[in-house]
Amino acid sequence: MKRIAVLTSGGDAPGMNAAIRAVVRCAVDLGWEAYGVRHGYEGLVNGLMAPMGARDVSGIIQLGGTVLGSARCPEFKTEAGRLKALRALNQNRVDALVVIGGNGSQTGAYALSEMGFPVMGVASTIDNDLYGSEMTIGVDTALNIALEAIDRLKVTASSHQRAFLVEVMGRNCGYIALVAGIAGGAEYVVIPEVETDPEALAKELRAAYERGKSHAMVVVAEGAKYNAEALAHYFQQHRERLGFDLRATILGHVQRGGAPGAFDRFLATRLGAAAVERLANGESGMLVGQIKGEITATPLADVATKKRELDLRLLELARVLAK
Ligand code: ADP
Ligand code: F6P
Repeated sequence: MKRIAVLTSGGDAPGMNAAIRAVVRCAVDLGWEAYGVRHGYEGLVNGLMAPMGARDVSGIIQLGGTVLGSARCPEFKTEAGRLKALRALNQNRVDALVVIGGNGSQTGAYALSEMGFPVMGVASTIDNDLYGSEMTIGVDTALNIALEAIDRLKVTASSHQRAFLVEVMGRNCGYIALVAGIAGGAEYVVIPEVETDPEALAKELRAAYERGKSHAMVVVAEGAKYNAEALAHYFQQHRERLGFDLRATILGHVQRGGAPGAFDRFLATRLGAAAVERLANGESGMLVGQIKGEITATPLADVATKKRELDLRLLELARVLAK
């Protein structure tokens, strides 16, 4: 191994820069060259890569987003697109690729590795929906941003005796909603994994009102069948039956753009370093992640085909704690 390339793909996540830094510096430490690929698979397909040395990753560990840029690249989903990417890697005499990203990105990494190119994935997405890692880079920071917003909304909700629908990110996964809901003391959590009947929610809100609560916080994952907009629309008429007046806030990309906290910087650094270490040991076609506190590697074949299940007992815990 002489030269590796690194890219960030899919939704940016706080901590991606710390992972890039670790990959580059660990490669340099081994006497290898590191190349940075611009804009994820989009840049790979178009050969947008350049050498990155230890100084090129100075002062980025504390920055959110990704200095390499990210993108969604439909072309990479086609074999022709991946062949273009392979050509670019070979033209630049790259021996292996590190892919920092989430579910889709790792599925792409698997497809590339199936074409015979050595790839190592690094688990990074605020959704925390990757098979092969209990925590992914970015989720802790995104959760803290969501919590800060929930805490603030609770203050104004209490002042006006209102219920708030707070929509958090999570395309197909309710992890952020569930954890932010429990940590934020929510009265109700709505996630894509479990269908919510708006009538059941109405009943819970009414009951909370009658128990004398000064506010009610409902944390809703964007991917739920009834997202915040749909629920607000559903309750538009007959709001009085909830007891509380109702408002909705969609947090959206605010959750993604923060500066990484200590947990994400440390996790990203360990995962980036582990990716290089595994490549140095001759391994590839794996995703580095964290399971039970240990840094692990899971075959990309499993990551691409298996689903990470959410612990639904937490939903019951959220219900009990909303008393
Ligand atoms: P994330 O990695 O955050 O889940 P996406 O799902 O948007 O984000 O995936 C990022 C990119 O990964 C896509 O734009 C595409 O280039 C690539 N990708 C996703 N799914 C596949 C697939 N089935 N095969 C090849 N590449 C894929
Ligand atoms: O995958 C991360 C994520 O933030 C999801 O939670 C969200 O649904 C999606 O990306 C939003 O994508 P985009 O930034 O392309 O709007």
